Amino acid sequence: MIRTRIRSIAHYVPEQVVTNNDLTKYMDTSDEWIRERTGIEERRYAHKHEETTTSMAARASEIAIERAGITKEDIDFIIFATLSPDYYFPGCGVLLQRELGITQTEIGALDIRNQCSGFVYGLSVADKFIKTGTYKNILLVGSEKHSMGLDFRTEGRGVTVIFGDGAGACVLQPTEEEGRGVLSTHLHSDGTHAEELAMINPGSHGGYHNADVDYGYPDPQVPGEIFVTPKMMKDYMLAPNMTGQLVFKTAVTKFPEVIQEGLNETGLNSTDIDLLIPHQANLRISAFVQKRLGLRDDQVFNNIQKYGNTTAASIPIAMSEAFEQGKIKDGDLICLAAFGSGFTWGSVLLRW
Ligand SMILES: CC(C)(COP(=O)(O)OP(=O)(O)OC[C@H]1O[C@@H](n2cnc3c(N)ncnc32)[C@H](O)[C@@H]1OP(=O)(O)O)[C@@H](O)C(=O)NCCC(=O)NCCS
Repeated sequence: MIRTRIRSIAHYVPEQVVTNNDLTKYMDTSDEWIRERTGIEERRYAHKHEETTTSMAARASEIAIERAGITKEDIDFIIFATLSPDYYFPGCGVLLQRELGITQTEIGALDIRNQCSGFVYGLSVADKFIKTGTYKNILLVGSEKHSMGLDFRTEGRGVTVIFGDGAGACVLQPTEEEGRGVLSTHLHSDGTHAEELAMINPGSHGGYHNADVDYGYPDPQVPGEIFVTPKMMKDYMLAPNMTGQLVFKTAVTKFPEVIQEGLNETGLNSTDIDLLIPHQANLRISAFVQKRLGLRDDQVFNNIQKYGNTTAASIPIAMSEAFEQGKIKDGDLICLAAFGSGFTWGSVLLRW
């Protein structure tokens, strides 16, 4: 039976460390508030002009490809998850192909837009391609450059303090080794609360979903309406917004549910999990999930303290660090789980 194996994992984070105290220069916040509510101590910000979501992904990918013992030419498909792409279009998949110098045109590149669940969604899609024998070396990447799109005024503090930049990448291959590889994947979504954790502008919505909000469109009936209006710029409408408490409440329910779904399907128990790597949304959310599943501290890996929430990059960055620290060994049962904007959520159970 063919299963999907994570052959290698790697990450790249930008050099610039931004502490909670650094943020107090721009907004009314404090190290104490951020640590207490989120567990975050610092995050990384990419260089404004010299680093992009794609370039960070390329650095992580180069290491992953080397660790897999293959060459760039062996990659037969790229899957790129991000919510902070370099361009409105085309997506980062083709930009990564170009940045890596992968010139063979028979490969494809797919962009995943599932925010915090992007890596889990991407891994599930890759798993299907590998199991069916379509591809043999898939490069799966999650990368984010949030620092360019945050509101650094006090009005934006509820969101801005949480997010950071970085990238993680892995090479996925087929394996026929008994019991090894991806055992289950589960994906879910519910668009009811789409705007409660969202960056709405720039977009093509033209006010369609929120008739009561004045986006400053000169005339919504005119075809070819512009994406960005002067009002959006003036009123800081080009930044993410989040209803934090709704996100928190939903996340602490959906994380354990979707993990349990994987355990039920595979006939395993939470006690069988060697390492749970949850999307690094908030240390308090991870603690809730850990408690609900009855896991010990050594069964859960968190690094949000150092990087903040890096959305699609958070799981591969955490997995890469856990691997480098010797916390993932051959044969370990690894559980990945994510929840985020959409809302979307999902889990993957795999035997390393
Ligand atoms: C964002 C979050 C930390 C906010 O914590 P909270 O306890 O819900 O706080 P609230 O939003 O109710 O705000 C409480 C107060 O803190 C203030 N506040 C918000 N952000 C602040 C900051 N960075 N620094 C200082 N004060 C802040 C608010 O203005 C509010 O003040 P008020 O009582 O005077 O109005 C919390 O809701 C959360 O973790 N949600 C989930 C977020 C998440 O995981 N997102 C990613 C999902 S993938």
